[in-house]
Amino acid sequence: MDNFRFYAPTDIRFGENRLSDELADVLNTYGKKVLLVYGGGSIKKNGLYDTVVEILRANQNTFVELSGVEPNPRVETVRQGIELCRENDVEVILAVGGGSTIDCAKVVAAGFYSEKDAWDLVLERRSYSGEALPIVTILTLAATGSEMNSGAVISNLAVNQKLGVGGTSMIPKVSFLDPKNTFTVPKNQTAAGSADILSHLIENYFKKTEGTDVQDSVAEGLMRTVIKNCPIAMQEPENYDARANLMWSSSLALNGLTGSGKTGAWSCHPMEHELSAFYDITHGVGLAILTPRWMEYVLSEATVDKFVQFARNVWGITESDKKIAAKKGIKALYEFFESCGIPMTLPEVGIGEEKLKVMAKQAVDHSTIKVNAYVPLDCQDVETIYRKSLVKMTF
Ligand code: NZQ
Ligand code: ZN
Repeated sequence: MDNFRFYAPTDIRFGENRLSDELADVLNTYGKKVLLVYGGGSIKKNGLYDTVVEILRANQNTFVELSGVEPNPRVETVRQGIELCRENDVEVILAVGGGSTIDCAKVVAAGFYSEKDAWDLVLERRSYSGEALPIVTILTLAATGSEMNSGAVISNLAVNQKLGVGGTSMIPKVSFLDPKNTFTVPKNQTAAGSADILSHLIENYFKKTEGTDVQDSVAEGLMRTVIKNCPIAMQEPENYDARANLMWSSSLALNGLTGSGKTGAWSCHPMEHELSAFYDITHGVGLAILTPRWMEYVLSEATVDKFVQFARNVWGITESDKKIAAKKGIKALYEFFESCGIPMTLPEVGIGEEKLKVMAKQAVDHSTIKVNAYVPLDCQDVETIYRKSLVKMTF
């Protein structure tokens, strides 16, 4: 196990109906002037907006709104949020939504203090060391882990780039996780969010570092949890425990718990971010398409043991032949995504072969996938994985 610092200071308020008792006090810790950030309207449809606004009014908060944050949030929206904060002397940001809303709020929070343009700030990537406005979140979709981590992913479609940025000051101070707020998440987003959680666990699981039993067994348990609860939540959207298990998995999959102490770059996220940057697709869907192909591509004598561990401990596969067991694990993952109704080829999400080469180049340029991924991948490797994603997998 490698050295690490585990810093996950977000105050998690998990469970139902906490907002009315706790939100006002939480906000008052930071100030009265609030920027309320949300997406395209799901919180207006399900009543959460009204609940929050009522609490803000009763608490005599002054607030301005940044609404319409896009899935794959745009830098233009971040700029708009920074302006609103400056014009209104905002003291605390309240993000109500999924990862896109929270990510947008994070970069607004940092941009408020930065003299740089928002996109230049994103280009600092993981090393933002300046101040940020305090962020409180109310999570509405189990997926990214943004509610409990320092990262944000912002898109600049003018230059076809989607990049991660982050810093400790951007970690939410408090996050409210009420599973009931995810009851209205539609089937396709429930599946995509679950695929994203699984991908975070898989990216951390397949690393070269050895002797990481803690991280690996936590990851295996979380993967089994998602595999069990995603279909239940899709069938019974108001099943509290299924939603609760997905929600807590989302946070734990990407708060450092399973990634700390393990070194190396992620593989599927850099490849997926290019698909979203060029085609604006749903992040979790892109990951579900790429991950089984990536697994098949990197499976070799050198990696087979880890794949056998994945097959046994996550899927309960008992096959004794290592190579067959490894392949059965990959097949199980592919079929799980298929059974969740996720489109499993690139053409099904509107992606043909036209831009595969340029996306492969950017995936390599924007990451260290070629240097220190589990199996280092160059442009040709990435392009091959994209090409394999044009057609259904056969086993
Ligand atoms: O915009 P609204 O109207 O709210 O609708 C959203 C959106 O259409 C809807 N939704 C969310 N909560 C809902 C709901 N609909 C009904 N009921 C609810 N309770 O779901 C759609 C997707 O929302 P979004 O926030 O985009 O999804 P997600 O949480 O998956 O976030 C995706 C973004 O996060 C980035 C992704 O790249 C992508 O840009 N990521 C952020 C990470 C991080 N900060 O650590 C890591 C991830 O790997 C990821 O890259
Ligand atoms: Zn992700």
